[in-house]
Amino acid sequence: MKVLILNGSPRKNGNTSAAIDEIVKVFEKEEIETEIVSVGSLSIRGCVACNSCTKTGRCAIDDIVNRIAPKFEEANGLIVASPVYYASANSTLTALLDRLFYSTLFDKTLKVGASVVVARRGGCSATFDQLNKYFTISGMPVASSTYWNSVHGCMPGEAACDTEGMAVMRGLAHNMAFLIKSIAIGIATFGYPEKEKYPATNFIRSDLAEENAKKNRAASKKKTENVKTRIENVRKTARNKVTAPTADQVKPSVIRAVSRAKKAAEKAAEKEAAARKKAKTRLEQQAKKARQIKKDLQTKKAGQVKKNPQQTAKNAAGKGQMK
Ligand SMILES: Cc1cc2nc3c(=O)[nH]c(=O)nc-3n(C[C@H](O)[C@H](O)[C@H](O)COP(=O)(O)O)c2cc1C
Repeated sequence: MKVLILNGSPRKNGNTSAAIDEIVKVFEKEEIETEIVSVGSLSIRGCVACNSCTKTGRCAIDDIVNRIAPKFEEANGLIVASPVYYASANSTLTALLDRLFYSTLFDKTLKVGASVVVARRGGCSATFDQLNKYFTISGMPVASSTYWNSVHGCMPGEAACDTEGMAVMRGLAHNMAFLIKSIAIGIATFGYPEKEKYPATNFIRSDLAEENAKKNRAASKKKTENVKTRIENVRKTARNKVTAPTADQVKPSVIRAVSRAKKAAEKAAEKEAAARKKAKTRLEQQAKKARQIKKDLQTKKAGQVKKNPQQTAKNAAGKGQMK
C-alpha cells in the first residue's frame, strides 16, 4: 500500500517538509510505502482549458503533471502539503493539482486524500478547505486528525517546535493508514460502491435553455440589423457630404477663433484699400505736376518768339535749308 505525497513548498527543508517527515515516520511503522514529490520550486503553469485531456486522459502541457499521474493512479492515498501563502495554498501546487485532477480520467474513488497546511500564523483552515476540495469532488474519502491538519512555523525548522501540530500529523498518519487498510478490505469484501452515471447539466434547465437560445438568437439578429443601419447611415452622411454644424454643435472656443479670424481678415482688407487709395493719389499728383511742367515750358517758348521774331525766323529758315 502506497501513499503519494506532494510537497508544495519551494523550501527544501522547510516546515512543510518537517510536517511530512513526521507523517512518514508513522507510515513506516504502519508499513505504508510513501513517495514524496517536491513541486514547489518547479515552473508549473496553470490549466489552459484546451480540454484535449477529455479525449486523451493526459494534459496537453507535457510536464511533471503527466509524470505524477501514473504515480497517483497506482497509489492508495494522496497527501497534498502546502505552505500557506496569503491564506491560500502555494499557487505552483494548485496549478499542478488543477491539471492533475482535471486531465486524469482514471477512477479516484476510495483513494484516501489528506491535506496538510503550514503557516507562520494565519490562513490555515482556509487553505485546508481549499485543498480538501480536490478530494471531495473525486469520490476520495478524506483522512482527518484531532485538529485541522495544520502546523505552525515561520523560519525553516520552527515547525518542529509546534508540538501540538506534530502530534496532529502523527494522528493523521495513523488514521490515514487505518482508512487505507480498511478500504482495501472493504473493496475486497464489497467491491466498489455503485456509481450512477448522469449527464452534467451545468445547472441549466433544458426547457429554459431552448427559450434562452431563441432570445439570444433574436437579440443577436437585432444587433446585426442595428449595426447594418448604423453603417448605412454613415454611408448616407458621407454621400451627402458633411453638413455645416449648427451653432449649438460648435464649441464656444471654435466660435471665438472664427470671429477673431473674421476681424483680422476685415482689418487686412481695410489696410489694403487705404494703401491703394494712397498710391492712386500719389500717381494723380505726379501726373498733375507733369502736366504743369509741360504747360510752363510751352508758355516759356511762346514768350521767347515774341521777344526776337527775326532770330526766330532765321532759325526756322536754317532748319528749312538743312532739310
Ligand atoms: C508569499 C508568502 C506568503 C505567505 N503568506 C502567509 C499567510 O498568509 N499566513 C501565514 O501565516 N504565513 C504566511 N507565509 C509564511 C509561510 O507560510 C511560512 O513561512 C511557512 O512556514 C512556509 O513553509 P515552508 O517552510 O515549508 O516553505 C507566507 C510566506 C510567503 C513566502
